[in-house]
Parts: sequence; C-alpha cells; structure tokens
Amino acid sequence: MNDPDPPAPSAERSEGPVVEEGEAAPGGDGLVPQLIASEVVAGYVPEVNILNGCNLTLYPGELVGVIGPNGAGKSTLLKAMFGLIPVRSGTVTMGGDEITGLKTHDLVAKGVGYVPQNNNVFPRLTVEENLEMGVYQKPASFTERFEFVVELFPMLGERRKQRAGSLSGGERQMVAMARALMMDPSVLLLDEPSAGLSPLYQDEVFIRCRQINRAGVSIIMVEQNARRCLQICHRGYVLDQGANAYTGTGDDLLGDPKVIELYLGTLAKAR
Ligand SMILES: Nc1ncnc2c1ncn2[C@@H]1O[C@H](COP(=O)(O)OP(=O)(O)O)[C@@H](O)[C@H]1O
Ligand SMILES: [Mg+2]
Repeated sequence: MNDPDPPAPSAERSEGPVVEEGEAAPGGDGLVPQLIASEVVAGYVPEVNILNGCNLTLYPGELVGVIGPNGAGKSTLLKAMFGLIPVRSGTVTMGGDEITGLKTHDLVAKGVGYVPQNNNVFPRLTVEENLEMGVYQKPASFTERFEFVVELFPMLGERRKQRAGSLSGGERQMVAMARALMMDPSVLLLDEPSAGLSPLYQDEVFIRCRQINRAGVSIIMVEQNARRCLQICHRGYVLDQGANAYTGTGDDLLGDPKVIELYLGTLAKAR
C-alpha cells in the first residue's frame, strides 16, 4: 500500500526560523492557555498506567512538539486528550472548560481536530468523499472549507475524484490533515505526520504544519523526527516512560546537552 512518493509538488522549500523577526512568539505572560493536560494518568489495560501524570500546555497560536523514545506514551497522550481512551485521573481543559472524558464528536464540535498516525483516510472513498466525512457535522460549510484546504494542498483539487487508497503515503497524509481541517478546528493534534514518508514529503508536511499554524490553528505535533520537529515548533515536550522529562522552547531543547545525549544523539538512535 505504501507506494513510493513522487517529488512533492511544492516549490516552497525554505522555512526560516519559527519566530520571524518582528513576530512575537505565542504564549508568554498573561495569555490564557488554550488547552491544558494536567497530571493525566491513562492506560489501556486495567491497572496498568501508561501515562503517569503527564502535563502539557498549549497557548493560542502555538505549535508545540512532543518527542520521546518509542513507547514513551506520546500517542497515548494524544488519544487521552481526544477522548479515545479514558483518563483515569488528572484533567484536560480547553479555554478554561474541563473537557476530560468528552466524546470525540463533542471535542470535534468544540474545535479539536485529530489526525492519527495510521489508517487516517478511508481508502475506498475518493478524496472529496474523505473531506465530506471530515465535515459531516456541518455539511453546509463543505464548499467554503474545501476551498480553504485546496489552497493549502492543491493536490487535493487535482485528485478530488481519485480514491484515497490509490494515493501515495505522502498524498494520503495530506488528505488526512485536510480532513481534520474541514471542521475549521482551533486546535489540531497530529500523531507523527511525517512517519514513513519520503524525505521530500516529510519536508512538505513540516512546511504545511507551519502554514496551518500561521493561519491561526494551534498545533500539538507528535514526532519521531525529533530534530526537525523541534526546529519548527515554538515549544517542545520530551516524554519518557509516560511522564514529562524535559520542556522548553524548540531551540532550548535542541541545544540542551542532556536532551541531545538522551533523545537526539546516537544514544537516542540506539534505544
Ligand atoms: N492499544 C493498546 N493496548 C495496550 N497497550 C498499548 C496500546 N497502544 C499502546 N500501548 C502501549 O502503551 C505504551 C505507549 O505507547 P504509545 O503511546 O503508542 O507510545 P509512543 O507513541 O510514544 O511510541 C507502549 O508500551 C505500548 O505498548
Ligand atoms: Mg506513537
């Protein structure tokens, strides 16, 4: 199923620093967080906790990265925030309202979008039908939202009648991200959007994430491609064994000798 990716269609390659000159970094003093996961404990099997009190704060306009070794609980944290697994203790709040344990369709209605790592498109449906599924709660806004996502991903317009299953891995990832954007979310949760893609499509994904973020969508992005992720995010969290290990700006984490040794360097690759 994972066809090799053709060269990514975008001509835009340079990304520049995450915070441009004259542009204030989001977050900071006085801003009310948009989403907070506080002391979250969650797991799959009764009495086995995978998350042992995880904390994450997302400020409006931020692009936040979550990195850490395989099995650290990164995907589990996103699933707990998106109501896919029960939160055993701790809370998730959005704009000051507690949303812990809400069903996914209620979270979507509240403006949360989620793109899982795998199986994130309906392969038998066309691109257009996948996007319709994304907006089933508000079908009247299809045309307007379709125009928005096609501007971001022109390929979707060209391939609109093609079955998603016939697309390359990179193209399917674009469909999945676009589907989540159809509901005009204020927060997007992305689970390893660059995983398994060709280097060119990985670039494309990171560039698009920056663009989506600049368009006003706050993003929490889980990534195995840790360096790349920290280069584009405002702040990052390192998770290890279901708990927070390090937190800081992307640059701070990229330059932290401990983070380099444990999570970005050769030791990280050996784990
Ligand atoms: N559906 C599941 N059922 C039981 N255990 C799971 C399930 N999914 C993940 N786990 C376990 O939870 C731990 C964390 O997994 P995960 O959150 O996927 O890690 P990461 O995304 O950081 O690689 C791992 O030990 C994994 O085996
Ligand atoms: Mg994962």
